[in-house]
Amino acid sequence: YVLGIDLGTSAVKVSAVNQEGVIVAQQSFDYPLNQPHPGYSEQNPEDWVSGTTVAIVNLILKDHLKPEDIEGISYSGQMHGLVLLDENHQILRPAILWNDTRAAKQRHEITDVLGDRFETITKNQPLEGFTLPKLLWVKENEPEIYKQIATVLLPKDYVRFRMTGKLAIDYSDATGTVMLDVNEGTWSKEILNALNIDIDLCPPLINSTDFVGNITSSYASFSGLSTSTKVFGGAADNAAGAIGAGIVDDKQVMVSIGTSGVVLKTEPKTSNYRGVLQFEDHGITDQYYSMGVTLAAGYSLGWFKRTFLPDHSFDELTSLAAERPIGANGLIFTPYIVGERAPYADADIRGSFIGVDGVQTQGDFIRSVLEGITYSFKDILQIYQNNHRTFSQVVSIGGGAKSSFWLQLQADIFNAPVTSLVNEQGPGLGAAMIAAMGLGWYSDWKTCVAKFVQYGKIYQPQPEHVAQYEQFYAVYHQVYEATASLS
Ligand code: XUL
Repeated sequence: YVLGIDLGTSAVKVSAVNQEGVIVAQQSFDYPLNQPHPGYSEQNPEDWVSGTTVAIVNLILKDHLKPEDIEGISYSGQMHGLVLLDENHQILRPAILWNDTRAAKQRHEITDVLGDRFETITKNQPLEGFTLPKLLWVKENEPEIYKQIATVLLPKDYVRFRMTGKLAIDYSDATGTVMLDVNEGTWSKEILNALNIDIDLCPPLINSTDFVGNITSSYASFSGLSTSTKVFGGAADNAAGAIGAGIVDDKQVMVSIGTSGVVLKTEPKTSNYRGVLQFEDHGITDQYYSMGVTLAAGYSLGWFKRTFLPDHSFDELTSLAAERPIGANGLIFTPYIVGERAPYADADIRGSFIGVDGVQTQGDFIRSVLEGITYSFKDILQIYQNNHRTFSQVVSIGGGAKSSFWLQLQADIFNAPVTSLVNEQGPGLGAAMIAAMGLGWYSDWKTCVAKFVQYGKIYQPQPEHVAQYEQFYAVYHQVYEATASLS
């Protein structure tokens, strides 16, 4: 077997997968998210380690997995989180997570110091969600802690460190720190020097499938694992999710609808969207991907349900929406309810319902929320179109792929065929695939994907629906500019 450890924001999920790509057992463990002040989002790295360990112990004790049969382990990790260690490898403060927005001021400081050079070097903007502005925030606000920092890690790298004793970060998570020179594949001396950050704080860079080390004897006695088990680098959750969805070449685009939403496409190294989309190293060596993040995708629907229809299930919500006509009787929703990242990097913008009419029902409101979230993805797909990028189909994953109504709505709004995964398993499966490739189970990624990934029904765009949605999308597209000055 291989284990794929999916270290998420609300829980860790560990999947045991066999050589046929079949998940034989799965265990998960939840941990808290702390929000001590508005905009703050923190976790205790110790909770990640104990949660991962409990899940592994349960795989061994409850699912009767034999430790010596676990050949390899790898990881998918929540991105951008700042984990700080002192020279004795002790945690210095709670981790500052990807969805923490306290470093908005530092984002502007970075742009003031580095100007256009920043986007040329990192192919990204220094958004407050990313690691570097968070590190600068600690430097400016907690100088006593900053002085003691010996190593900066990302969340899954800390868990890997505790299991192997080795400090490392893989390229896919390193791009998400925005401290990496993406062209050179090295930490950027120019950025670090300009901001007065010691390059020695940055850990060694590795590829996702690189062997890092064996399970240490102390972690083996703690968890029940065997010291013969090999541990491989792992990847950022969006990279691992893409691998688990079979997005390993540029024929397909992934649309992932979770709390936030992601549109992701593999890219040649030469691409540069100058920060309009994020640009990251893939978990596949020498491959890259671009990604646009809609901050409140599933979150918008969850907010609507919680606020207006708490006793309805999500299935009931989509059934009510399906009864209403395309365009929700003229109601347009923009999903900027916690600000936005793509296509507008705007933390201050807020959402809106435009065109409220006395004829509209609850179903129209739900439908407009589903349509608005999907238009936001279309905005990102339009960026691909404007940059002459082509793809043959969209692979939809996450909550949005659970409803055939929403899958058809995506096909019609995107004007592209949309498919979903049979038995979707998320980024943990991608992590297991990374371990399998690291172990040399398969000669190439295509063979690995053919074993692990199965696509379901293809939803084709229906021309008359496409034409109607085009008209409503044209109105949606104007709402950002029209409301930006009001927020
Ligand atoms: C991507 C991002 C989120 C996190 C979630 O840039 O911030 O998708 O990766 O873990």
